[in-house]
Amino acid sequence: MIITGLRGVGKTVLLNAFREKAIEHKWVALEIEISKHNDDEFKRILARELRRALFEIAPKKKWADRVKRAAAVLASFTVTIDPDGRLSAGLEVEPHEGQADSGALDADLTDVLIALGEAAQAHDTGAVFLLDEIQFLSRNQLEALIAALHKTVQRELPVTLTAAGLPQLAELAGEAKSYAERLFHFPTIGKLEASEARRALAAPAEDNGASFTPAALDIALEFTEGYPYFIQEFGLATWNLADGPSITKRDAEQAQVVVEEKLDSGFFRVRHDRTTELELAYLRAMAELGPEPQLAGAVAELLDRTSQQCGPTRSKLIEKGLLFTPEHGYAAFTVPQFDRYLVRAVPDLIVPRVKKRKKNEEEKEEARVTS
Ligand SMILES: Nc1ncnc2c1ncn2[C@@H]1O[C@H](COP(=O)(O)OP(=O)(O)OP(=O)(O)O)[C@@H](O)[C@H]1O
Ligand SMILES: [Mg+2]
Repeated sequence: MIITGLRGVGKTVLLNAFREKAIEHKWVALEIEISKHNDDEFKRILARELRRALFEIAPKKKWADRVKRAAAVLASFTVTIDPDGRLSAGLEVEPHEGQADSGALDADLTDVLIALGEAAQAHDTGAVFLLDEIQFLSRNQLEALIAALHKTVQRELPVTLTAAGLPQLAELAGEAKSYAERLFHFPTIGKLEASEARRALAAPAEDNGASFTPAALDIALEFTEGYPYFIQEFGLATWNLADGPSITKRDAEQAQVVVEEKLDSGFFRVRHDRTTELELAYLRAMAELGPEPQLAGAVAELLDRTSQQCGPTRSKLIEKGLLFTPEHGYAAFTVPQFDRYLVRAVPDLIVPRVKKRKKNEEEKEEARVTS
């Protein structure tokens, strides 16, 4: 499955829970946090996990022929990117010529995943890829993975994948697209329901001999809107503030201040700091319009520009993972409540100066022509 959701909704927590399950069932987990890798880096990171996985499938002394073969395919996969042989260290095999060495990522990854699946099968186990921040995969990389998994599924090999990331996934084309639709579930996760959010705070408190008053929970729900990360911080703050064993309305009110300060100087601030002036101006304009997805044209208008002029800034913000496009023409924040933060942190709209000057000139020009 491919799970998508905003920042701080529990995607990574969920992947960790899946890893625990995999280990419980004696499956091998290959965990990768994706970032913007070029194909060689991507291969290198995969190879490192694959190598580890082979040793985990069985101790080398007990390797079935299929595992030895997988090791040879892996050595072949890394031949061009691993001149000093570190990625195949300890495998002690010759590269399996003609396997996984074509240079085409999809074909090579298919060879590798099939070899891995056969190796796992030979030892009555399986392998699960757990990929986080999958929005950073390039289209080519994502398509290659999908093509490879499609093959292992066809052959009924015990290889599967759970990935998580922001709602912005690479646009898939052709076969990859139709495979993906059939291969994966695409659950989205987000805010908790009110009853779940209450339980997320109340249950652990109760387990520890404390309880929230209903008024305190109301404040928590309004403040956090049910976002898991905010609930976590809110719970921590009330726990530290309350005299206990009852966590009161007053505690919750104080917690709001503490949590807001913490988020403003951490969770939100780190994202704010990663923006250029133009990007910040764009985000601030979006915030002015509210938390919902916003039309590119409407944001541009606030900035006194055309959407075309704003295009590069918008793309950059998407690339940085601060915005995503829920539907064509729209952009939305990937960080819950980022709009509110921006209004707090940057009270006034920023209208980029360059344009202002230009506009003055245009006005002067217009005045000159009409006179
Ligand atoms: N099931 C859960 N139990 C306890 N805490 C949770 C749970 N889910 C989420 N949280 C809290 O929310 C925080 C954020 O969760 P997590 O890091 O998994 O989010 P994420 O969706 O991966 O966010 P990002 O997109 O920023 O990586 C956790 O550190 C934890 O405080
Ligand atoms: Mg995460």
